Amino acid sequence: MIAIGSDHGGYELKEQLLQFLEENGYETEDCGTFSGESVDYPDIAEKVAKVVLAGDAERGILICGTGIGISIAANKINGIRAAHCTDPYSARMAREHNNANIIALGGRITGTELAIEILCAYLDAEFQGGRHQRRVDKITALETQN
Ligand code: RB5
Repeated sequence: MIAIGSDHGGYELKEQLLQFLEENGYETEDCGTFSGESVDYPDIAEKVAKVVLAGDAERGILICGTGIGISIAANKINGIRAAHCTDPYSARMAREHNNANIIALGGRITGTELAIEILCAYLDAEFQGGRHQRRVDKITALETQN
């Protein structure tokens, strides 16, 4: 199960990625927005984050105009590791090394075909654990130390 959400700046890309995911056998939970009308990206980041943290989705996708605001918002929520990616290599590493549970994309930055490549790199990758687990644990510790 993949949770997906966008603000108005990411709405068109969200619809295209939803279609891709559904055509490729993924179950999806669409957390909105549901039109091109202006909404606030922190609200969408919170919705997708809550679905992921509840265990109702294994991973999340967040899209705003740049991918920046919505990833900053998501990363304020304990337990979320949202990776803003503009290339497939970073997307794979975000999973293999950082165990990112959300990928963030920019609907006004990244075209649909590249976004699909980035998304597939992220979804096909698995966390490698080992030394990376120690580092991810240190990220988690920062949530309570500051
Ligand atoms: C909305 O206009 C825009 O600010 C938002 O989509 C995003 O790019 C913020 O980081």
